[in-house]
Amino acid sequence: VDLSNANTLRLPAKVEHFAAPETLKALAACVHDAREQGWALNLLGGGSNVLLPARLKGAVIRPRLQQWWLHARNDAVMAYVGAGVNWHSLVMTLAQRGLWGVENLALIPGDCGAAPVQNIGAYGVELSDVLEGVQVMSRHDETLSWLSFDDCAFGYRDSVFKRSLVGEVIITRLALRLSRTARPMLGYGDLSRRVSKQPSSLEIAQSVCQIRREKLPDPTQLPNAGSFFKNPLVSAEKAEKLLASHPGMPHFPQADGRYKIAAGWLIDRCGLKGARFGAFGVHEHQALVLVHFGGGDRAELLQVAERIAATVQARFGIALEIEPRCL
Ligand code: EPU
Repeated sequence: VDLSNANTLRLPAKVEHFAAPETLKALAACVHDAREQGWALNLLGGGSNVLLPARLKGAVIRPRLQQWWLHARNDAVMAYVGAGVNWHSLVMTLAQRGLWGVENLALIPGDCGAAPVQNIGAYGVELSDVLEGVQVMSRHDETLSWLSFDDCAFGYRDSVFKRSLVGEVIITRLALRLSRTARPMLGYGDLSRRVSKQPSSLEIAQSVCQIRREKLPDPTQLPNAGSFFKNPLVSAEKAEKLLASHPGMPHFPQADGRYKIAAGWLIDRCGLKGARFGAFGVHEHQALVLVHFGGGDRAELLQVAERIAATVQARFGIALEIEPRCL
């Protein structure tokens, strides 16, 4: 089965078996079959944050669980959302209903089931700010259970699903806690300058879409996987040293005393914005995004990424870590 259209970087990829189950029962049957056959099992959502190899062993499952519902709870409104629901359409639907909580996360590509894995975040909000629990199916016996917020061990672009639960569970449903009361989060970048004095959640979602469209390439036009590197964390001493020679360097204080540095700025400062390396390139408007012009594969892309990281390391003494996941 050809997966080159199932990943937004459009890396050439093939796998022996592929299934897109639409119900929990069908998903359980797929998991059971894969185990019986001894196939390696890989999960895929929208394919917007993965680096696929040319040949993948075993089976790929894309859960297509589409049901979702809302449930009023005191001042909150809970949204229970199937893993196969498209994240961006969910955000717009909730904002259109006047609910608050996920409006800053508009236009992030991919399926809801993938969102907790990397704890998607943008414009000052992370999924973990509204996520109350995650329903999962065991890959060993297909039983369903709920993980609490604490179980998920969320961090910056990090969660238990990238760590101890790799190969253990399949995310089937999210429980999101939304608010009917306005709570605009406008602290990041120039978001506050782009909206009216008392914006609705829909207005904020629309402004976020606008900002993203200005900076980030549309994967259907120019294949990419969003940010290719994580923003690195450095010690206060290191940040001070860098700021002495680069006073304009964007830096964001963290709760633990360290600073988050903008990797896009570092790459940009190395003169690499818009640079082309064979089939790949650094996006001309956002140096943190690598784009695929066609004809490349994962091996080549990883070489390009290494070259960029080595340049940043040599110039700033900071190691960059790749953000999308290698299947
Ligand atoms: N910058 C440059 N040159 C560039 C890119 C950025 O100087 O080429 C500077 C910007 O001027 C700004 C700073 O770096 O001062 C940060 O840039 P931006 O606001 O565009 O955000 P980012 O840190 O590059 C992160 C997320 C994005 C998310 C935005 C907005 C990561 C790895 N990336 O990018 O998430 O949309 O913040 O919140 O944390 C993704 O994960 O795929 C993604 C797109």
